[in-house]
Amino acid sequence: MTDAPLADQLEAVLRSRRFGLPLHCYGRLGSTNEAAARLAQADAPEGTLVTAEEQVSGRGRQGRSWHSPPGVGIWMSLILRPSIDPEKCTGIPLLGALAVASGIEQVTRARPQLKWPNDVYMDGRKVAGVLGESVVEGTRVKFAVLGMGINVNLPASALPPELSATAGSLAMATGRTWDRVAVLAAILAGLEERYDAYVARGFSAIRTEFLSSTHLVGRPVEVIYPHGSVSGTVLDMAANGELVLATGGGTSQVRVGEASLKVK
Ligand code: BTN
Repeated sequence: MTDAPLADQLEAVLRSRRFGLPLHCYGRLGSTNEAAARLAQADAPEGTLVTAEEQVSGRGRQGRSWHSPPGVGIWMSLILRPSIDPEKCTGIPLLGALAVASGIEQVTRARPQLKWPNDVYMDGRKVAGVLGESVVEGTRVKFAVLGMGINVNLPASALPPELSATAGSLAMATGRTWDRVAVLAAILAGLEERYDAYVARGFSAIRTEFLSSTHLVGRPVEVIYPHGSVSGTVLDMAANGELVLATGGGTSQVRVGEASLKVK
């Protein structure tokens, strides 16, 4: 079920002009986010991309791990150096999730759903996740690492028991395998297309598109924090990417990056 290593074809296929340059393709790695952060600390330029065939300590949000078996997924991290207010970094993973969903749709013609803040679903199963990590110096963003994990050709049998009820893959959702290079190239091109507008205008530049790709508006949700939760009906997304909920006592806005969401 595994295809040719990404490194063999990626350079020739990439349509993006800035993202993916330079390119660091690894076989087995701890975490592409960690490797990208190390490169960024050593002054690697914006657009540097790190990919791995397999991650042995792939990282997810909120301290979780990310299952990253060899040859069947896209495990990649992009270095960004946006000139933005550090507060706006919270929207970068949302930008990533939008580009991932749109790249998947372009290649497979199936339309994924976004689940705020940055999960990508197909057929009710999570097929991709995004992990944004940034380093801020004073009022300046030194760099951000945008990590994206896409389960492309994982068969259901490759999912560990703890993920078997909730995780999916493009192959599981569509009944066939896909060329990882084509999916990766479409995601990077989509990121590049939206990135300048994001840097100039923040989340409001992608808000309408994000809203049209999410099924949450009008739905009752529970947003879980590490130390509590809030329940309500999703009304909207604010211009800064926060989720706006109608709660018993009025409305409340939930900050990006702090919560995971459970649709009831
Ligand atoms: C999530 O919890 O949904 C985020 C998962 C992000 C996984 C990707 S895989 C490539 C990059 N490197 C990592 O260690 N994590 C991200």
